[in-house]
Amino acid sequence: MSYKDKLTIDDVELRGKRVLVRVDYNVPLDGGVIQDDKRIRETLPTIRKILDDGGSAILMSHCGRPKGKRDSALSLKPVAVRLGELLGREVKFVDDCVGELARKVRAESLPGDVVLLENLRFHPEEEDCDDAFARELAEGADIFVNDAFAATHRSHASTVAVAGYIPVAVLGYLVLREMEMLQGPLANPKRPFMAIIGGIKVSSKIAVIENLLDSCDQILIGGAMACTFFTTLGIMSGSAFCETDFIDTARQILEKAGSTELGAGKLFLPIDAIVTDEISPEGKRAVATFEDIPKDFSIVDIGPDTIARFKKELANAQTIIMNGPLGAFEVDQFSHGTREIFKSLAERFEAGATVVLGGGDTASAAKKFGLENRATHISTGGGASLKVLEGKPLPAIEILTDKDK
Ligand code: 3PG
Repeated sequence: MSYKDKLTIDDVELRGKRVLVRVDYNVPLDGGVIQDDKRIRETLPTIRKILDDGGSAILMSHCGRPKGKRDSALSLKPVAVRLGELLGREVKFVDDCVGELARKVRAESLPGDVVLLENLRFHPEEEDCDDAFARELAEGADIFVNDAFAATHRSHASTVAVAGYIPVAVLGYLVLREMEMLQGPLANPKRPFMAIIGGIKVSSKIAVIENLLDSCDQILIGGAMACTFFTTLGIMSGSAFCETDFIDTARQILEKAGSTELGAGKLFLPIDAIVTDEISPEGKRAVATFEDIPKDFSIVDIGPDTIARFKKELANAQTIIMNGPLGAFEVDQFSHGTREIFKSLAERFEAGATVVLGGGDTASAAKKFGLENRATHISTGGGASLKVLEGKPLPAIEILTDKDK
């Protein structure tokens, strides 16, 4: 079932309602200092809508992977402070998401109140999708809003089970926008429609490539995962980056793409790579073709010929989806390929093309290379955005109330 069949926050009356909102404030924290507040800022439209319409917002989120135990380094307290600054009003922080205090604060919340509950994953019941825990989270709420796009692929108590205990469960604005931006191009793209898929392991991107082949005009492959395709084609042998268990799948993909010969079909493989003996600023940097990558060297970027070809292929694209950086962009001397391709993406965006970036590393690279305001959409989701691109259902959206109910 499509997200378009689900009720949204615009379909419900919020006046006087206690609205329980699942957000994803899984933000990078260093000693309690928020390193990137994008995930907080992106939830503001939903929270403002609730407050402007006369409801109260009770927010809940996970942060990190504390494995069911309290961990002060993963407390959401700094997030409450930042959210208060962004909203320009007080955000009450409750230092547990369940228990007496949480119950009391929820029950007493008045229109205009904003409450943030402590990290859900301090309780093992959250990831166990425990019903009793979900029922307690739901207590007193009139409406449930899911605005945690980055957690929509997780079947947890606060994303899935909770919806069964609240009369109405609807989509928030962030989830709506993410779905429109990530799924929209697949259904109805302006052409040429190109995808750029990077990363080390082909296994993590196979389902995405397979699904994109149905709608994309061309898929550019970057990163070490190209080794599995080159091995399948008999161009390379003995690479540590080849996932031998996936050779058969890689062959099926090459056949589906019409790319069993280099340069043919929809799948465009890199021509050359930057390799190194050490992934650090001190590592030796060399250009190599995929036939002659020195033993014990890692692939850390696309090479100059690949950059030139990718740029040429992208020059007329009207829709571009990218998932996965093209190299070890965190190290300056290996960031050239990702930076150059991002330059092309920004130019295409400024020429009117739709440019959508998904995945945690891709979003970090976009921030590093100044693409934040030079793309149509940069997803807040990692695993969730992959699932959308794979064409798979998201459990936390499936569970929401149908429009025709
Ligand atoms: C994310 O950062 O992708 C989401 O917050 C989900 O986090 P998780 O992978 O720990 O479930």
